Amino acid sequence: MTSPDSIGSTLKDPYVPVPEDKFSFGIWTVGWQGVDVFGGAVRPPMPADRAVRKLAELGAYGVNFHDNDVFPFEASNAERDQLIGAFRKALDETGTKVTTATTNLFGHPIFKDGAFTANERDIRRFALAKVMRNLDLAAELGAKTYIFWGGREGAESGGAKDIQAALARYAEGLDLLCDYVTEQGYDIKFAIEPKPNEPRGDILLPTLGHAIAFINGLEHPEMVGINPEIGHEEMAGLNYAAGINQALWHGKLFHIDLNGQHGPRFDQDLRFGAGNVGGAFWVVDAVVQAIDAGQYDGPVHFDYKPPRTENDEGVWVSAAACMRNYLILRDKVRKFRADPEVQSALAASKVAELSQPTLAAGESWRDVREVSIDIDAYAERGLGYERLDQLALEHLYGVR
Ligand code: GCO
Ligand code: MN
Ligand code: MN
Repeated sequence: MTSPDSIGSTLKDPYVPVPEDKFSFGIWTVGWQGVDVFGGAVRPPMPADRAVRKLAELGAYGVNFHDNDVFPFEASNAERDQLIGAFRKALDETGTKVTTATTNLFGHPIFKDGAFTANERDIRRFALAKVMRNLDLAAELGAKTYIFWGGREGAESGGAKDIQAALARYAEGLDLLCDYVTEQGYDIKFAIEPKPNEPRGDILLPTLGHAIAFINGLEHPEMVGINPEIGHEEMAGLNYAAGINQALWHGKLFHIDLNGQHGPRFDQDLRFGAGNVGGAFWVVDAVVQAIDAGQYDGPVHFDYKPPRTENDEGVWVSAAACMRNYLILRDKVRKFRADPEVQSALAASKVAELSQPTLAAGESWRDVREVSIDIDAYAERGLGYERLDQLALEHLYGVR
């Protein structure tokens, strides 16, 4: 919530988050202890309730959590209840919503070969039970979207995993969980989060395209969408703004994980706005247009990791910056779309003509079978995209 002492700054500073922005964070983001393959923790563990309170102070509307962000894997029922109680108290006292929830099916060694697609059947059965238990908590806390990031679903070598069997088990698991949610009467929909690799050598459902195709093979495809992440698509060299527009076209954009990435390399999970700045401009343009068109009503959710270099103060600087960068870019894309020069450049590039069906009403292939056009004139024509893109860059650079 906007704290009293920042109300004044709201008047001076237009980039202060308000609940209507629906900013949400995975609590594991600010709770990230900076561990990496080559070094241990640089920051102490962060209790879930502290993450909630501090994010609320910064203006976050909601949070997302893994079960084991709130209580440890080995927690007794009593400890689990006590820690959930503290989490819920912080939520209630700050008015923070639980927009989203998920399960840690990747941290404990038991999941080293995956959860839904582990070769060993007992592990798959255990994983389903772990998800169902956390779906109960998610429903209790009011989450509307449940994420499936299959970080350990994959392999490092060709012979280890029968891919078709793995996909069959993945589908079996999601079908069972859709039945569970339906029979419990939970108002929850599922969002698969694709990632090409890391921690596995290759992860199943590596991009949003694979995930959308996979959903078609499920028993309840209407209950399942995707939660694409900027860094994950860009790890695969893909364009996230184009990707979420395809997900919207399929009606499958159920959630978004916004962060920053410097192109194809390990998953950097930078704060949103860092890394591919030009890409972030078009991501915000796509999200704002989807929200304005009523195509997306989920949270504007950040999944990032404060770098190992940061102390506690740096954690909160980076969390606030995720929201601030989104608001700055939202202002810029709105000015871009309202700029009369941009509108004339869009018209010159005939961008709107693409929305006109290729055939007129009542026409069929017969009407285009012998079509003839002025080939030379079209071949010589310039599309004017450089002028249009330069205008976008000048808005991004802050000179328009
Ligand atoms: C990553 C992933 C995770 C998932 C999270 C939700 O970078 O490791 O993005 O952060 O988003 O586990 O399932
Ligand atoms: Mn990630
Ligand atoms: Mn993510």
